[in-house]
Amino acid sequence: MPDTRWDRLWTDVHLATMTDPSLGIVRDGAIATSGDRIAWLGKAAALPAAPEQLAAEVIPCGGAWLTPGFIDCHTHIVFGGDRTGDFRRRLRGESYAGIARAGGGIMSTVRATREASNEELTAPAAARARELSAWGVTTIEVKSGYGLDFDTELRMLEVAAGLAHHGPADISPTLLAAHTVPPEYAGRRDDYVRLVVDEIIPAALDQGHARAIDVFCEDIAFTPGESRAILEAGIAAGLHGRLHADQLTDQGGGALAAAVGARSADHLEYLSRGGVHAMAEADVCAVLLPGAAYTLGADRRPPVGTLRRAGVTMALATDANPGSSPITNVGMILNLACILFGLTPEEALLGFTASAAKVLGLEHDRGRLEPGKRADLALWRVGDLAELCYWMGPSPLKALVSDGLPVGL
Ligand code: NIG
Ligand code: FE
Repeated sequence: MPDTRWDRLWTDVHLATMTDPSLGIVRDGAIATSGDRIAWLGKAAALPAAPEQLAAEVIPCGGAWLTPGFIDCHTHIVFGGDRTGDFRRRLRGESYAGIARAGGGIMSTVRATREASNEELTAPAAARARELSAWGVTTIEVKSGYGLDFDTELRMLEVAAGLAHHGPADISPTLLAAHTVPPEYAGRRDDYVRLVVDEIIPAALDQGHARAIDVFCEDIAFTPGESRAILEAGIAAGLHGRLHADQLTDQGGGALAAAVGARSADHLEYLSRGGVHAMAEADVCAVLLPGAAYTLGADRRPPVGTLRRAGVTMALATDANPGSSPITNVGMILNLACILFGLTPEEALLGFTASAAKVLGLEHDRGRLEPGKRADLALWRVGDLAELCYWMGPSPLKALVSDGLPVGL
């Protein structure tokens, strides 16, 4: 018998603990929480007494599957306006990079974001966060990057952090002041890099919300040299390093992420073989974003086979944003990861749980079902977990627990 009664005990449930490549399955299991932590899990037959004696509340699950709450480790859900105009232009044949060079793309969202108040940014972002949670998401990484000036970048981090009060998900904000060079700095890019390094990063640290620093390294954004300077400054200040790398062209982004000790390199459609090996060597995670590859009609796929053979941790995320991935449907991302990128359902599901936790530096706290880990649980109405990747229908989420508390759906 445990010393004290558990708060809640889920029974008649199959568990995917995410503790091994086959998802660490425990069939006919049970799982208990106390406060905001997982207190016990195992085979139901191994429970030390009758369920009612063990917990204040017993929840029979009718043979459903339970996973850790999903972690969306790459999103841009705080933004003003939308990009329907860009969408129409791309359908008529213009490219993402061409639209960006002509002042549309990210910059059009920057203009709308700068004009919006914090309240105007919060309401739609909170709705997007709830849409993700309807797909089992209990942790969301949220990037700035549509401010590109001192005040708006800090405001975006404030709005991102505030989303935690508007929905069930925990929020991990990332400073992406280096998303593109704003037109005010045309012809003096170095001054913008200096603004980010000397002023925005220190102010973000004082503000206390940002957990990570990110840069868009691309020929329409920052050069590898500029990206390195910004990443090194952020990492030296204690932030986790992230990099939008090798998405549209091979910039040596994977190797750069490895050289600076970043946690992840994201996108990676143009990642070279050398980049894969540098990432494997430095234990940099690959964050795969099939929503962006799909939306932009990318002509290349990330080198999933090489990443797999090299033992690189592969995480998966929605990249939810108005330009390249207007998607808050995790089921669609799981499906695209399998169909477009060739992930197995197991890799895809690990990509939204244990691997995503590692990207955010939260692997000690969540992403797996283990005693002591945060009680973030998603219960699914499926007979086989691969159904989460297979159907492109409504969310089969049956119940959600965030930080130990059942969430109303
Ligand atoms: O992750 N690649 C750069 N950043 C975003 C897109 C942002 C946008 O187009 O608004 C991405 O795809
Ligand atoms: Fe992104």
